[in-house]
Amino acid sequence: MKSIEVKTLNKIYNIYIENHITDQLVTYLKDNIKSINNIILVSNEKIYTIYGERIKKIISSNFNLKKIILKDGEKYKNLDTLKYIYTELLKINARRNDVILSFGGGVVGDTAGLAAATFNRGMGLVQYPTTIIAQVDSSVGGKTAVNFENIKNVIGCFYQPDLIITDPKLLITLEEKEIINGLSEIVKYGLVFDYQIINDLLKIVNKYKNSDDRLLKTVKNEEFGNIIYKCVKIKSEIIEKDEFDTGERHVLNFGHTIGHAFEKIIGFDNINHGQAVAVGILCAVDMSISYGYLDIDFKNKLHSLYNTLKLPEFVSGFKPDEIYNAIKFDKKFVSGINKFILLKDVNKPIICTDLNEKIIKSSIIKYIR
Ligand code: NAD
Ligand code: GLY
Repeated sequence: MKSIEVKTLNKIYNIYIENHITDQLVTYLKDNIKSINNIILVSNEKIYTIYGERIKKIISSNFNLKKIILKDGEKYKNLDTLKYIYTELLKINARRNDVILSFGGGVVGDTAGLAAATFNRGMGLVQYPTTIIAQVDSSVGGKTAVNFENIKNVIGCFYQPDLIITDPKLLITLEEKEIINGLSEIVKYGLVFDYQIINDLLKIVNKYKNSDDRLLKTVKNEEFGNIIYKCVKIKSEIIEKDEFDTGERHVLNFGHTIGHAFEKIIGFDNINHGQAVAVGILCAVDMSISYGYLDIDFKNKLHSLYNTLKLPEFVSGFKPDEIYNAIKFDKKFVSGINKFILLKDVNKPIICTDLNEKIIKSSIIKYIR
């Protein structure tokens, strides 16, 4: 069992990461949260279909369980869904000492988190992530949000959970495209913070290198949870230093500035977060090469890694100018000055501002087909 204590301004909470921890969910809830009244499970239709009965049985054996089931998909990460949650919370007569148990990927986590942060000015919140992205990134650090007017995460707030329960064994039901989605975030941690994470990942994937379903087998491998742990440990340390994303936390956005623009222009239904970030990482590496920080061999090594992990290397269906204009809407752009995370070297991120427009556009062009 691996646990991490996270110290934030208003809360100190634990993250537990363990294969099959789901079976001990009740113990962890009881040990970490005082006097729980109701547990309000917020999940989506797809996840609830797979795991609903099991979770219901585990929780209702000890707690009064209510549930709010959302529609599945990024397009439902919006104000209508938030309103639906508020309406259901009113029907349930939810109180501040009730706990929202957010059971799902980043979409459920961000939306349920925002509901927990705002309903009654704040309720209990447990993040119980079920995708790789949610386990290594979105459940940790208290960013909650919904999209609005096609702008990602534009309405939200920081609200730390009271507890995070991470069971890597829940990942074995993910579709391959969702595994790929999550692997791009793991690659991000490897490139920005600790290349050993990529080596660890390759060690597992290469056991199944001739197999078409090598990614699913990788996720099913008992060791995969250790990779999740390493990423979460890195993220939690950053959160402790920069909870409100005013400086050091920006480095977590490596590959995201252009990635968010891809998501905006291509549409949330047509590209998922991880695909967009995967190609955004390639653009950021290319820009790092243009500034003389990385050498071209590194890019070739990265392409080979992408091939093994089945990560996308191109996006299509728009003009570079459209992406550049979309980048200007990124929250990290302050007073029209662009801000990118580049790599001075492997595991040496650097926050760069006011980069040359031509260099940005020429990197984007290379990854459009
Ligand atoms: P998602 O929540 O849409 O989940 C992807 C798909 O996998 C969905 O269809 C979902 O129903 C399904 N799914 C989830 N768990 C499953 C399981 N165990 N088995 C089978 N299917 C399962 O997408 P995501 O990639 O988890 O999250 C992306 C979202 O997270 C984006 O909205 C992004 O903005 C947000 N995000 C937030 C942060 C943050 O710090 N708050 C960080 C990164 C990403
Ligand atoms: N996912 C980026 C962050 O939490 O800051």
